[in-house]
Amino acid sequence: MKDAALLAGVTPVAAELLERHLGTAKEWFPHEMVPWSRGRDFAEGEDFDPNEAKLPDAARSALLLNLLTEDNLPHYFRRIAGRFGDDDPWGVWNKRWTAEEGRHAIVIRDYLTVTRSIDLRELERARMFQVSTGIVPNPPSLADGLVYVTLQELATRIAHRNTGELLEDPHGTAIMRRVAADENLHHIFYRDVTSAALELDPSGMVAAIERQVKSFEMPGAGIPNFKKHARLIASAGVYDFASYHDQILVPVIYKHWRIEHLQNLKAAAEQARDRLMQHIERVNQLAVRMKARLATRPAPAH
Ligand SMILES: [Fe+2]
Ligand SMILES: [Fe+2]
Repeated sequence: MKDAALLAGVTPVAAELLERHLGTAKEWFPHEMVPWSRGRDFAEGEDFDPNEAKLPDAARSALLLNLLTEDNLPHYFRRIAGRFGDDDPWGVWNKRWTAEEGRHAIVIRDYLTVTRSIDLRELERARMFQVSTGIVPNPPSLADGLVYVTLQELATRIAHRNTGELLEDPHGTAIMRRVAADENLHHIFYRDVTSAALELDPSGMVAAIERQVKSFEMPGAGIPNFKKHARLIASAGVYDFASYHDQILVPVIYKHWRIEHLQNLKAAAEQARDRLMQHIERVNQLAVRMKARLATRPAPAH
């Protein structure tokens, strides 16, 4: 199915899901979650001192990646507007979503600044580089875009939530849980629009799911030292192959989209489904092997 027909087909469902989102999303205030009394002025050129806030290196990496991902918002807005357009309900959704994501960047940045949890000069330089470069995923069709954002919002929810659990600071944990709860609402919006798309064009959607599951990467790939940070956060279990398999692929693709039960697929889509299911099993095997390898290593140092 062509993008325009698919978009027209899912738009009434998106309008309902937007209403559901607006009715479910809770208002909250970043400034009420930040422990301001722990803050103090920075001197110009002041070096980062990791002893100011005790937290594992993996948590610092996770916080840096999580915040930089939120900071790249102008480019996601551009992509989403380009793919879904600015007409109702998509324009309303995209602008509302942008406002919510902006709140995530505000609360995480304020928290990190007040608690001196990461190197804020490194953060600012990385933000300048990232936003100036503007590298963000660009799925090749509407179907691919729907699948990508569904996976991405859920991956972000998992990463935020697990990052919060690594912090030995109830303020930090509460902030990351709050942000993760928003990401979940974003995820279910896209997941349910995609369910509607699967009904309209099961063969086209299965092909897109195969492509996106195989190529899925968190949107931070344009961040300096992304691979190093990603390895650290994987080793701490913040986001890894096991998260991808157990908390994303199985619940979304098998339980929710019920991929193995789809009827009336064209021959090419049947083959895509077989490859997809084989790929998911390979991710599972990789996750099991990685877990076994990590279990033999000493715990990461603080
Ligand atoms: Fe966010
Ligand atoms: Fe989100």
